Amino acid sequence: VIAVTGKGGTGKTMISALLIHFFARDRSVLAVDADPDSNLPEALGIDGFRTLGEIREIFQESRDEIRDKEQWLEGKIYEIIYEHDDFDLLVMGRSEGEGCYCYVNNLLKGVLQRLLKNYDVIIIDSEAGLEHFSRKTIDCADYIIVVTDMSKKGLATAKRIKELSKELNLNFERIYIVGNKISNKEAAELIKRFAEEEGIELLEIFPYDERIAELDLKGEPIVKILEHAEYNKKVEKVAGGVEK
Ligand SMILES: Nc1ncnc2c1ncn2[C@@H]1O[C@H](COP(=O)(O)OP(=O)(O)OP(=O)(O)O)[C@@H](O)[C@H]1O
Ligand SMILES: [Mg+2]
Repeated sequence: VIAVTGKGGTGKTMISALLIHFFARDRSVLAVDADPDSNLPEALGIDGFRTLGEIREIFQESRDEIRDKEQWLEGKIYEIIYEHDDFDLLVMGRSEGEGCYCYVNNLLKGVLQRLLKNYDVIIIDSEAGLEHFSRKTIDCADYIIVVTDMSKKGLATAKRIKELSKELNLNFERIYIVGNKISNKEAAELIKRFAEEEGIELLEIFPYDERIAELDLKGEPIVKILEHAEYNKKVEKVAGGVEK
């Protein structure tokens, strides 16, 4: 289970989408969009998806009539999983209601844990920031990739994630950094030095790339950038770094 995390707008969704495509070549992959502002589907070129948030709402409304609650939830999850040719996609979405979701969330934990066992690789595109660490909603992750740009806040987030996982006793195997939107050599050097000083392995650095911005502008899936060979090499380095 690989969770892609970091400050807002650093490129978490892009890196997640690239990794999903990479692993899906020869592995069974579950892509999880854990950002309430779901945009992983778009990055992957998928629309018409349903969300776990919807299921939660239905559950809240008809809870008393559902006899085997776990079985019901499990069935519903399989209904909303989007089956792409190469991978499956689960979109968490959001719950709009005011009620307490603790009960259903607790049930879901077990159901999701069983679901994860069906796949070789699970890639989680996280919400920006740190809240999901303190809420321990991603404690199922084995590996954390922190995506950072050159901003002070981006790097501080990487540092904080490392500290938080210690403080909260989250048992991740490893935490890695991926640099993104890095436009010059000095910036790349700075990020290398930061990684060394913090003792966090730097897996790869992605430059700022007009072609990505252009795909975005045209509303085309970001994964199309994989048509350029150098991106395949870069993703391979990220994936290989986590696997080794
Ligand atoms: N290397 C890059 N070069 C140019 N543009 C990029 C690059 N990486 C990402 N972008 C653009 O930056 C924006 C943010 O990227 P992305 O959505 O992947 O970030 P995010 O961390 O998931 O953001 P959020 O915190 O909002 O979920 C997008 O418009 C994307 O097209
Ligand atoms: Mg995102």
